[in-house]
Parts: sequence; structure tokens; C-alpha cells
Amino acid sequence: MTDRIVSVPDTEPERQMYFVGECKKLLEENGAFEGGKAPTYHISTFGCQMNFRDSEKFAGVLESIGYKPVLSEKADFVLYNTCTVRENASTRVYGRIGYVGKVKKESNPSMIIGICGCMMQEPDEVEKMKKSYSFIDIIFGTHNSYKIAELLYNLLVNRKTKAVKPSFKTRVVEVLKEPCGIVEDLPVKYDSTFRAGLNIMYGCDKFCTFCIVPYVRGRERSRRSCDIIKEAEHLASRGVKEIMLLGQNVNSYGKGLDEDITFAKLVDKLADIKGIERIRFMTPHPKDLSEDLIEVMAHRNNVCKHIHLPLQSGSSKILKRMNRHYTKEEYLSLVKKIRDILPEAAITTDIIVGFPGETEEDFLETLEVCENVCYDSAFTFIYSKRTGTPAASFDDQIPEDVIKDRFDRLLKVVADCSAKKASRLLGTDCKVLVESEETKDGATELTGRLDNNLLVHFKGDKDLIGKMINVHIEECRDFYYIGKMIQSV
Ligand code: SAH
Ligand code: SF4
Ligand code: F3S
Repeated sequence: MTDRIVSVPDTEPERQMYFVGECKKLLEENGAFEGGKAPTYHISTFGCQMNFRDSEKFAGVLESIGYKPVLSEKADFVLYNTCTVRENASTRVYGRIGYVGKVKKESNPSMIIGICGCMMQEPDEVEKMKKSYSFIDIIFGTHNSYKIAELLYNLLVNRKTKAVKPSFKTRVVEVLKEPCGIVEDLPVKYDSTFRAGLNIMYGCDKFCTFCIVPYVRGRERSRRSCDIIKEAEHLASRGVKEIMLLGQNVNSYGKGLDEDITFAKLVDKLADIKGIERIRFMTPHPKDLSEDLIEVMAHRNNVCKHIHLPLQSGSSKILKRMNRHYTKEEYLSLVKKIRDILPEAAITTDIIVGFPGETEEDFLETLEVCENVCYDSAFTFIYSKRTGTPAASFDDQIPEDVIKDRFDRLLKVVADCSAKKASRLLGTDCKVLVESEETKDGATELTGRLDNNLLVHFKGDKDLIGKMINVHIEECRDFYYIGKMIQSV
């Protein structure tokens, strides 16, 4: 035991790789690999692409330890990577935990249940988990998520030394208030061989008054451009064709770094990498979206002509209360600038209905902006009160029936615009990245993604998955197309 402690590295990622080895030894001692078996894991991910990317990292570490993935929650290690951006995201997590607790009790008492992610950065949620769910073994937050191997090791040691039966007495809880640096170079298990998310920054400093993200993901931290480029080159060498640059507010990329870099410059550099045929990014904030970025998008063929530009509300009064730092007019003039330089670009958005104080007139302004911009698609959300955010204590919350009525009206406007926009591509030939297959009436149907992020279904051979193909767009069905393959590109 003393030897082990003396040799624990105190730098990362070496320290976590050390714990990967130690976990493996402990599992071996427990007979987890006997007779050619392997312990199994299942990760259930909620929320945004940031969380899905984190889950790929958890999977990479668990597989290095020797765990094998299974599709169901009947696994030896089940991890819930949670989201708390809206109330229904949290409710779904509680549903799953209730279920997995039963599975553990009835069929696998030594199962390890872990819970991590944004919900676990909320002290009240952690307390609730600790108090009401005694079967949960590991709790950690977003700031120390790279430590999964070390936390698992601590649990395995606790189980070995502290108690005969696994119980809350052996539980490991580690939630940090602040992020402790960016840890790179841990193993990753990529979900796809041809598409990948790439974190360029973490956290958010915007503090929109409705949003919990800055509280659960911490302050903005950008990765050094050389690390991002190295990772993108590595992805390209593995055959990845499409990368999605991830950050809560990608336009702020570079702030605080001691290098001469902006988001536009970063995208331009990444576009030089051979083999990267498509670059996407998520999410730019309308306030900081630079003309340089639009120019880079216009001049680089491999940067997708798609901008997700969250509006949230079309009323300048509400935008001010939301702390969004732009007015309706500024937003519309940004859209005009994009359309002038990049007329073919798809523009999509996020809209919140029923923010405190939203009057019928404010809502009509939102509808007006939607009609004016005519979004290719829009994610529409009912305002959800998040404890700890400024808007939660605004006293002019909107009644549910009023919100429901506005939401339905908004959906109609948004759907009409999407249909109008989608019909633009009818009869044209488009490049798609083939993503998946499905067998329908004995024939293989492929699904490919267009530059504008919409999907197209067409007949073809499954060997084309992961390749770029030209497809003739024949039919438009609201949110997707039916097409015919022309040739491989
Ligand atoms: N960083 C991104 C958004 C991340 S959250 C941006 O600023 O655009 C994704 C979306 O969830 C937001 O754009 C917003 O529309 C929605 N959202 C966030 N908090 C919400 C809340 N409390 N209620 C309803 N929707 C919310
Ligand atoms: Fe939330 Fe606003 Fe930050 Fe987006 S920019 S993550 S909406 S605080
Ligand atoms: Fe949800 Fe966290 Fe993303 S709160 S939306 S998973 S950053």
C-alpha cells in the first residue's frame, strides 16, 4: 500500500493513467476478468454536445481500465452524465436513477452507480442525491470530470477496506466549486469514426439571467490553439471528415490566452488541415460574432455555411432583462450582414417563450423577427425557472396557459419558415456526409447530412457510411429530404 502511495504522480494526465492501472489491478483481484469476462459499463448522457463530448472521455478511461460497453443500464458501472439547463432535463435524470436503483437491488448489488455533470454542480442536488439515493456510489461535478479513474479507484479501495457490503458508507463524493485547469490527453472513445466534437473552450462568462450554465460550468477558459490544432490533425489522421468546434460562446475564444488568436483565426487555421472536409461550430453569441468570422466562412470551402445564432427573444426590452447585450435591431443587422456576405448560409436559432415580464407585444416582436429572418430551423423552449439565476427571482413570471398559447403560435411560424427554406434545395445536387443506414422493405436506406445540417435519406450501399457523396434532392418532407445518389465525391 505504501509503495502505491509513494509512486502516485502529481501531474496530469500521468496521475489519472496511474489510477487506470490501479483500478485494473483491483478489478482483477476481485475476479472481474476471470474466464475471459470483462466488467461492463453504460453511460447515459443528457444535455448538450459538451456533455456528449465529456462522455466520450469517460468511456475512453473506462475502456482503458478494461470495461466493455453495453447498451442497457444492466451493467457493472452505470454513469449518468446530467444536464440542468431546464427542469425537464433534471426530471428525466431522476426517472433513470429510480429505475437503476431497482436494477441494482434486484439483480446486481455490487453494481457501481455514478452521477456527474452539470446537475452535480448544484449543491442542493448533491445533497438530495446523498440523502435520498443511498445506492449511488460516486458523485462528481464538471470541474473534476477528468478524475473519473481516481474516483473509481477510491471507491474500489473503500469497498475493499471499509465495508463488506457496498453502501453509502463507501461512497465517493468530490465536487469542486471552481475549475482546476484544463487536463488533456486522456484516452477517448469516439462515438463516430468520421465526425467528432472538439472542445475549444470551456465555461461561460455571459451570465444571461435565465441560464444556469455559467454557474455549473465555471468561467471561460480557452484551450491553446496549438493543442486544438494537434487534436484536429490527429482526428484527420484517423479518418475524421467533420469536426464540430464546441464552446458555450465560441466568439470569445482566445480571451485570456497569451497568443494572438481569435475564433475567426482559429477556424481559418483549422480549415488548412488536410482531410478535414467540414468544420462546424456551436455556439456563437450574436453579440460578439465578428465580420472576420463571416469572411472566413465565405472563403473557406470546408467551413459549413451554417450559423446557429440564438435569438432568445425578439423584444429589446426582454433581451435587456435577459442580459443578452444586443437589441432586436442589432440582431437583425447582424443577420443582414451574414446574408450579404454569405447569401446561401443556413441560419438557425434558439428561442425562449414566457421569460418573466414577456407581454403579448414582446412576444409579437419575437414572431416578427422569426418571420423577418425566416430561420432554417429553430429550437423553441418554454422558459424554465432555474434556482440561483437572477430571472428565477423576477416577480412577473408568466402563467402557464399564456405560455402554452404563445409556444404553439411560435411553433407554427417556425415550421412554416423551415418548410419554405427547406424547399430551396429541391431539384439541386448537394454534397452529403453519409452517417448511417437503415433497412426498409429489404433495401438499404442511407442517411446523410447536408452542409446546412439537414438530413437526406437515399438508397445506397452501407460501405458509403463515413464518405462524402453527391445527392440529388428530390423531395422535401418538413425537416428532412429524400434524394438519389449521384456519385461519390
Ligand atoms: N451558449 C448557448 C446556449 C446554451 S443553452 C447560447 O448562448 O446560445 C441552450 C439553449 O437553452 C439556450 O440558447 C436557451 O435558448 C435555452 N435555455 C437556457 N436556459 C434556459 C431556461 N432557463 N429556460 C428555457 N430555456 C433555456
Ligand atoms: Fe447560457 Fe448565455 Fe452562456 Fe449561452 S451565453 S451558456 S445562454 S449564459
Ligand atoms: Fe446542460 Fe450543462 Fe450543457 S446544463 S446544456 S449539459 S453545459
